[in-house]
Amino acid sequence: MPVQPVIKMGNPLLYQVAKSVTEFNTPELIQLIEDLFNTMRATGGVGIAAPQIGVSYQVTVFGFEKSLRYPHAESVPQTVLINPTVEFLTSQMEDDWEGCLSTPGLRGFVPRYTHIRYSGYDQFGEFFQREVQGFHARLVQHEYDHLQGKLYPMRLKELHHFGFEEEISELMKKHAPHPSE
Ligand code: NI
Repeated sequence: MPVQPVIKMGNPLLYQVAKSVTEFNTPELIQLIEDLFNTMRATGGVGIAAPQIGVSYQVTVFGFEKSLRYPHAESVPQTVLINPTVEFLTSQMEDDWEGCLSTPGLRGFVPRYTHIRYSGYDQFGEFFQREVQGFHARLVQHEYDHLQGKLYPMRLKELHHFGFEEEISELMKKHAPHPSE
């Protein structure tokens, strides 16, 4: 199915709390998930949330083997996550550079919890939970935020650690990932 247009920061749909899914394994839901995966792959993303293609439901897909956008990130299994909950298993956060398909060309230095447990449902209504760390934990927090109407620039500690990719290579070298104070 066609790749969908990705809406960008500023669009009011990105600031709404998305609705819960109540019916699983429907043709509409299966189609939505296919569209999300196709759009994510076509844009080189590692994750995408339904509100980003204009569908305000608690649905996100993510996962990759190797990412050009995040060359140092360890792989994350291909996942469909619906109606998620996230529990933080540590108070420790780490700052790292993050981007978003809704802020093309931009990166920001964002604190995220390093160790979480998340749970939710797949497209068939099957419940699952996982305990994860590192980039996987960061990715889930980013996608979960989308479903709560939050974008990563709202998580920045310092606005000057935010900018266009081609302008911030020096900044990115200076601020490698590190534990957040
Ligand atoms: Ni995003």
